[in-house]
Amino acid sequence: MGSFSVLPPEARRLEGKVALITGAASGIGASIARLFSKHGAKVVIVDMQDELGPSICKELNPQSTTFVHCDVTKEIDVENAVNHAVSMYGKLDIMYNNAGIIGEAKFNILENTQADFEQVVKVNLVGAFLGTKHAARVMIPTRKGSIINTASASSTTAGSAPLAYTSSKHAMHGLTKNTAVELGHFGIRVNCVSPYIVATPLAMKFFKMDADEASYVYSNLKGEVLKPEDVAETALFLASDDSKYVSGHNLLIDEGFSIHNAGFCFPQ
Ligand SMILES: NC(=O)c1ccc[n+]([C@@H]2O[C@H](COP(=O)([O-])OP(=O)(O)OC[C@H]3O[C@@H](n4cnc5c(N)ncnc54)[C@H](O)[C@@H]3O)[C@@H](O)[C@H]2O)c1
Repeated sequence: MGSFSVLPPEARRLEGKVALITGAASGIGASIARLFSKHGAKVVIVDMQDELGPSICKELNPQSTTFVHCDVTKEIDVENAVNHAVSMYGKLDIMYNNAGIIGEAKFNILENTQADFEQVVKVNLVGAFLGTKHAARVMIPTRKGSIINTASASSTTAGSAPLAYTSSKHAMHGLTKNTAVELGHFGIRVNCVSPYIVATPLAMKFFKMDADEASYVYSNLKGEVLKPEDVAETALFLASDDSKYVSGHNLLIDEGFSIHNAGFCFPQ
């Protein structure tokens, strides 16, 4: 059963819950899968990486973790993944739309093709829309559920990522707010989690940096480095009943990056 560990029953914050996490074969999604499992959730790992996805399941408890191949841009795949969660575990309590891409490092609009732009929007935004839609389909009859979207610090700031990525992440916040209002009528909460740079394969490839360099770039809060596990802890709060009155929120995990103009420095 690999290195899997589960907390004692009294410490488990997701005991009895079923969670589906997209993009869970790598980076932030994989960390969320590990933490949710540790807290007693049954977890459906959804991704296109057919080797890495099952390897995360093996590392966790095979009795309560399964992998489903899914391209989040295809409605049939997303519908199938949600149906799989329900047929396997009887319900869906937590839908985590986390799969994402950043696209190529083209910082001039003239270099961006329509296809470049559409691909990023398709994975990040349309993927989250499809995940939310199919989660709502099975959550509405039960009158409860928590839907979480991984947006980004680029959901509130501009200029630090390519325009398709920034546009898609701003729009994810809009999707979150609108669906929080709509689905609130059915007792379903919708929130997003917006991290600053985390040293995952996505960030390290894009910024052409190793883990240390990616983590320290423009950091305002000295002495701390954002890790996938920190994002997972925030996700745990939004997934659990501890946040039962929190909906429509964009929870920034950015050490103050989005409220800070790096051009102005206070004397130390
Ligand atoms: N790493 C960062 O600095 C950072 C910062 C803010 C937000 N984010 C967001 O966090 C999320 C997770 O990214 P990560 O940093 O862990 O990167 P990652 O590359 O490690 O993980 C992303 C996962 O999404 C999967 N994926 C991509 N396209 C898919 C598709 N069409 N269908 C299904 N799965 C697909 C990939 O296979 C991969 O496993 C993304 O939404 C990203 O935009 C990352």
